[in-house]
Amino acid sequence: MIVVAGGSGFIGSAVVRRLLAGGQEVRVMTAHPERSRSRIEGMGAAVVLGDVLDASSLAGAVRGAGVVIQTLTFPTFPVEKARKRFTFEEFDHLGTERLVGAAVEAGAKRYVFCSGSGAGPDAPKVWFRAKWGGEEAVRRSGIEHAILRPSWVYGPGDPSLSRLVALYRRLPFLPVVGDGEQRLQPAFVDDVADAFALAARPGAPAGTFEIGGPEVLSMNQVLGTMMEVAGRSKPMVHVPPFLPKLPGAFTRFLPNPPLSPGAVDFITGDALADTRSLLAAFDLRLTPLRAGLATYLRP
Ligand SMILES: NC(=O)c1ccc[n+]([C@@H]2O[C@H](COP(=O)([O-])OP(=O)(O)OC[C@H]3O[C@@H](n4cnc5c(N)ncnc54)[C@H](OP(=O)(O)O)[C@@H]3O)[C@@H](O)[C@H]2O)c1
Repeated sequence: MIVVAGGSGFIGSAVVRRLLAGGQEVRVMTAHPERSRSRIEGMGAAVVLGDVLDASSLAGAVRGAGVVIQTLTFPTFPVEKARKRFTFEEFDHLGTERLVGAAVEAGAKRYVFCSGSGAGPDAPKVWFRAKWGGEEAVRRSGIEHAILRPSWVYGPGDPSLSRLVALYRRLPFLPVVGDGEQRLQPAFVDDVADAFALAARPGAPAGTFEIGGPEVLSMNQVLGTMMEVAGRSKPMVHVPPFLPKLPGAFTRFLPNPPLSPGAVDFITGDALADTRSLLAAFDLRLTPLRAGLATYLRP
């Protein structure tokens, strides 16, 4: 039996669907059953309660699991809310330490952790250092593991491109934060789900693998391709990053903040991946952006 912690989320639910299609028994760990139960049961998985902020809730969540997959983040991601402990450090670093500890204690045989490309001990941004802390917790735990580091993942219901698609459909222009020249290697969520499903197999290759798409594109090129697939080109209006940072500095105190200064940096940074080790270890084909978008965007 496989427990997917975060299996109600964007990446996690794609992973759950892949596992179920492959005949696996899957339980999805959720901290918010009131909001996620119907989604989880609708996919055909079982619900199990567990909150990475509460170590005492995790033993029951992973009991009986042969494999634990972790694809979770805090509800206001990428806007941190320290008062609620919604921070990269609490979730990606300490939360991973708590969950992998519970998995080892419960006798799980394998752990698959969703990190992020750019993770490193001395990385300039806290989200990359926190992911590194989580990776180290997994490596130190001694459990057989695979760590996957996605770059920038897109697909139906993603937290970034889908919001821009919604704006594009509503407005006569497309607002872009920054100059749009950051370099991305967009990974299609179905490919990411395939990678997780393969990495969860007993005896699958162990180690740390970056995963991104087959092309390196600027954000402007990504959005240009999105508009072509969606049927109509509109002008892009580039907004200097300091502008959303100004209201962001205040609105981050709201219950559901749209952007914080840190979140603006998060969305305007590069997201690249070196996929050589991944492709050498797993039988995977990476989907080009246009083909991935064409599976779900319609004019
Ligand atoms: N999206 C990307 O482009 C991208 C790129 C690189 C790496 N990643 C990484 O991929 C992972 C998943 O990202 P996503 O975009 O799929 O996120 P998402 O859609 O926001 O999903 C977040 C998940 O976290 C769970 N969660 C929230 N609070 C929790 C808590 N206290 N305890 C346990 N689970 C909790 C949620 O489940 P409930 O609400 O049911 O509790 C949900 O399933 C993250 O670690 C992220 O850093 C994402």
